[in-house]
Amino acid sequence: DLPARVRIHEVGARDGLQNEKTAVPTAVKAEFVRRLAGAGLTTVEATSFVHPKWVPQLADAEELYPLVSDLAGVDLPVLVPNRRGLDRALALGARRVAVFASATESFAKANLNRTVDESLAVFEPVVREAKDAGAHVRGYVSMCFGDPWEGAVPPHQVARVCTALRDMGCDELSLGDTIGVATPGHVQALLALLNERGVPTPALGVHFHDTYGQALANTLAALRHGVTTVDASAGGLGGCPYARSATGNLATEDLVWMLHGLGIETGVDLGRLTATSVWMAEQLGRPSPSRTVRALSHK
Ligand code: HMG
Ligand code: MG
Repeated sequence: DLPARVRIHEVGARDGLQNEKTAVPTAVKAEFVRRLAGAGLTTVEATSFVHPKWVPQLADAEELYPLVSDLAGVDLPVLVPNRRGLDRALALGARRVAVFASATESFAKANLNRTVDESLAVFEPVVREAKDAGAHVRGYVSMCFGDPWEGAVPPHQVARVCTALRDMGCDELSLGDTIGVATPGHVQALLALLNERGVPTPALGVHFHDTYGQALANTLAALRHGVTTVDASAGGLGGCPYARSATGNLATEDLVWMLHGLGIETGVDLGRLTATSVWMAEQLGRPSPSRTVRALSHK
């Protein structure tokens, strides 16, 4: 009923750090990525090749990527919003990229300065060129459950964007609960609809932010549906402390604690991962919000 193994797609260095107000030195980011890999994570999203004015914290992508690209046996996906971003990523040798779409018009506008369909039109040649270059392509879909401007998001609206990304050639999709409002029944319903629309479960990952404390319950619902790729952020990094609707991702440590408790393999050394998050929290000057990190580091 539950999978024997789960692949964790670690997003701490990208989703976690992209909202950080204080500048994190490139060397610290590189050390973070290396420590995450050292803890046994084999998919470590490294950075984004987006417009530096839109996400100043990741403006050092060109400097950072070469500092980590020698890591053996570790996939280092990067976000690319358009052709310019893809060119920058491929020039550095990146072979795993992610485009990021939205299920809602409000967030497409806020995040990409485009309508949903305009952004899909931008992604189409990007996905094709990435595939031609031999890259693996992930397609994120944000606001799959709720949107801060539009409220609850109907599953068929999400399915339309998912099938468009699949038709373009995306190898996998990641279903984003960007503001952390999903609950397990909603997760189950969306996954079932996507299967009905021809998107197979092995091509689906889940990406839960933990705003309402539902991320683990939602993950379990997804695992019961057959999902084996789960996004998480070391230490629960991420989110802006001033934006109620955007807290951090599901903490990788909380996820690993649950998965190992269920007898599901991850390849992650929880002790080393926790030590990494404690180290990163020191760099950022505030404690990790992860319950598991707190429990394991206050002995
Ligand atoms: P725009 O202003 O519409 O850009 O922004 P444009 O296409 O009109 O181009 C304007 C200028 O920007 C041009 O320069 C371009 O060359 C340059 P000029 O010719 O005027 O000198 N430009 C770039 N420069 C460097 N790298 C690039 C790039 N693209 C254009 N890639 C754009 C459109 C998409 C660029 C902008 O909106 C953007 O960068 N957005 C990124 C936002 C972002 O990174 N958000 C966070 C990631 S998504 C997320 O966190 C959700 C997720 O976690 C899942 C979930 O939780 O739901 C994935
Ligand atoms: Mg996210």
